[in-house]
Amino acid sequence: MHVPTLIARKRDGEALAASEIEALVAAYTAGEVPDYQMSAFSMAVYFQGMNAVETAALTRAMMQSGDIMQHPAGHPPIVDKHSTGGIGDKISLVLAPLVAATGAWIPMVSGRGLGITGGTLDKLESIPGFRVGLSLDEAYAQLARIGIVMMGQTERFCPADKKLYALRDVSGTVPSIPLITASIMSKKLAESLDRLVLDVKFGKGAFMRTEAEARVLADSMMAVGNEMGVEVHAQLNPMNQPIGRAVGNSLEVIESVAALEGQGPSDLIDLVIDLSVPITGWTSEALRGLLASGKPRELFDAFVLGQGGCPADLPNLAQIHLAPIIREIHAGCTGTVKAVHAGIVGQASLQLGAGRAKANDVINPAVGFDQIVKIGENVEQGQPLCRIHANSQADFEMAEAMFLSAIGLES
Ligand code: URA
Repeated sequence: MHVPTLIARKRDGEALAASEIEALVAAYTAGEVPDYQMSAFSMAVYFQGMNAVETAALTRAMMQSGDIMQHPAGHPPIVDKHSTGGIGDKISLVLAPLVAATGAWIPMVSGRGLGITGGTLDKLESIPGFRVGLSLDEAYAQLARIGIVMMGQTERFCPADKKLYALRDVSGTVPSIPLITASIMSKKLAESLDRLVLDVKFGKGAFMRTEAEARVLADSMMAVGNEMGVEVHAQLNPMNQPIGRAVGNSLEVIESVAALEGQGPSDLIDLVIDLSVPITGWTSEALRGLLASGKPRELFDAFVLGQGGCPADLPNLAQIHLAPIIREIHAGCTGTVKAVHAGIVGQASLQLGAGRAKANDVINPAVGFDQIVKIGENVEQGQPLCRIHANSQADFEMAEAMFLSAIGLES
């Protein structure tokens, strides 16, 4: 393999053979191809794209760069959900125990937040003691016991993706459909799934701004998954206003626990149910009944305990992570909420300290927003539009100005 020739051929729009892509990824993972060549290759892919065969080869090569989960013979259905990232997106925290309560196993390898989108692992780590760094053996034992695992990508799990994603992040090559497809699907396929549902977001707070772009990404991911023998379903969901009423790490865990206890919010519950139907084969009505039974809430406690947390801390999270300033902001006039711009709320949350601008930034679990109004609600002048949890007065004022600019009120 002559790497400069491969890069030049891709730069000129040629399709590469699967064997060439596999050799390149294997050599990059082994440290035999330097970052500067791989970033040139990624940029060539960014501009020229990849066909379906090349994308599948890249996905397979990245999946095979490390350990692949092995489930015991006779295992229950192994299922998962992947979201392309949203604001206030705590769906996994509610969906995983619900799905596990149907008897399926859900071995979720999740990510951390970056930029305006939060990450499931950061949210979970707001539970004192919660460990996301599990070994595969620990993950297998927990799956057998309670059917849910949520863990981070280890050095041995899709190492090619870990290296390449870090490189793409600093070389302007993240927003490429084949590279996103291979990155996401290699990790999901390495979980050895039977079924996967993709929650592909579009809109003001999403990676993909339009439904048409989201469709292209969904089709690309479905094609790769189906080719590898996994039943993949995709749902396109708008991400114009935050999901639920909370944005911020501990605030979203509090909202998720409330949802598992039957206290909505309805948009979160509807999304959880819609995404759970295709991977469980249960009807919406049956899943709603299961949620109301309390079994998923019990499983959430078992899951927290299994990963080092203490279920007794869950009702006290608001006290455990008490921001110095917690204050409502109020409507300047009476009207109907027409917009809550998710991208701006996500950016404000990031600037409050709930997210990371760079991969190694430290996040603050206490800060963010809750009690956010929803589109379609009527508010009277002086009524609260949300509550801000901030670390300082300056941060509060920044978040207040940004939140007010995110809100559209029509009188
Ligand atoms: N999430 C990933 O894991 N990979 C991407 O390329 C984009 C989002």
